[in-house]
Amino acid sequence: MKKKILLFGGDGYLGWPIAMYLANKGHSVTICDNFNKRKWELEIGVKPLIPISTLHERVSLWNKNQKESIFLKIGDVTNQRFVYDLFSTKPDVIIHGADQPSSPFSMKGINTAQVTQYNNVASGLNILFAIKKYCPSANYIRIGANALVDYRSSDGKNVGPPCSYYELSRLNDCNNIFFAVTNWKLTANIVNTGVVYNDQTKETMLSSKLRTSFHYDRVFGTIVNRFCVQAVSGMDLTVYGDGNQKCALSSLESAVENIAQIAERDPVKKGKFEIINRFEAVKTVNDISGEVIDAASNLGIKIDCQSINNPRMEMVGERNQSIARYELNDKSNGLKDIDELLRKIVEHKNNILPYTIMPIIKWIYD
Ligand SMILES: NC(=O)c1ccc[n+]([C@@H]2O[C@H](COP(=O)([O-])OP(=O)(O)OC[C@H]3O[C@@H](n4cnc5c(N)ncnc54)[C@H](O)[C@@H]3O)[C@@H](O)[C@H]2O)c1
Repeated sequence: MKKKILLFGGDGYLGWPIAMYLANKGHSVTICDNFNKRKWELEIGVKPLIPISTLHERVSLWNKNQKESIFLKIGDVTNQRFVYDLFSTKPDVIIHGADQPSSPFSMKGINTAQVTQYNNVASGLNILFAIKKYCPSANYIRIGANALVDYRSSDGKNVGPPCSYYELSRLNDCNNIFFAVTNWKLTANIVNTGVVYNDQTKETMLSSKLRTSFHYDRVFGTIVNRFCVQAVSGMDLTVYGDGNQKCALSSLESAVENIAQIAERDPVKKGKFEIINRFEAVKTVNDISGEVIDAASNLGIKIDCQSINNPRMEMVGERNQSIARYELNDKSNGLKDIDELLRKIVEHKNNILPYTIMPIIKWIYD
């Protein structure tokens, strides 16, 4: 059945491919963004490996060539009036991923900690109040975060300790959702995909002008993407700490599919709050670096890995236990399409800014 979908964070790494995937399936998709991410990139001097078109260009290209249009609204989710205006169309499904998504960014200093907390918590409250007012039967999908893997819906207790002001912002938002669902009988799903890597889906491959952002830097770059870029630049892969931290992972394609599947299903019964953990693989940082080193060596690139003091606070023991509960049985499950990703990075090697890779934001002091 065709659904009216409102997606917050439509210019994002995940948001844009999710929007295209759902429009391709025949749904009516409205995306919203205020380009915060592009502003934060400029502030800290990083950029995606491959330049991406503006959101307006991407939407207009999509609408010219595809059957189902994507509608674009520019505005700030922390602005209550803007959010209420959007909700007056009474969406069936709301997908929210309009966050400041980086732990290191949130730990840079007081300003970025405040920006992260305000952005990620105030936006969530606006959306919850708007759902209650305009569409209390809607299916609310919150794109999750690692910190929420062990959030228990039955007692509202969170077991995995948060490891940054970003993770705290996500826990606060999750508590707000849990409270609203219980109190107002809304329907909400938190979908955890693990750390996402790669940059392609069926839709991003339709045209180079439809690609999504690909970050590899110390602030917005995720682990596999960062390792692959380090490999192509001939740098040893930088492993934080002893490398035994476990990481839940999904390729962009499978993360998009998993989130979209929850958007497409009919809402479960009212008052239902569900945490959905759907990962493609669970690996240690050492396993990941090993796989990237092997894949790079197939392309004739010889690199090694190098351990540095972990700049982050990571509750390795507790986090490992939480994530291990979702460990996938198929240990042979390798990183998907990693050779292709490495080849693409080689093509754009001249864009790499090597000085943006090594961590400089530390919240554990030696
Ligand atoms: N990238 C990953 O590996 C990953 C993994 C798990 C979960 N997530 C979560 O998925 C979601 C999306 O992550 P992403 O990697 O696509 O991040 P992203 O930064 O690429 O996308 C977020 C988008 O939201 C927009 N935005 C931020 N604040 C806004 C505001 N106040 N109003 C309007 N728009 C705003 C940004 O401009 C950006 O385009 C986040 O919730 C993130 O925590 C990401």
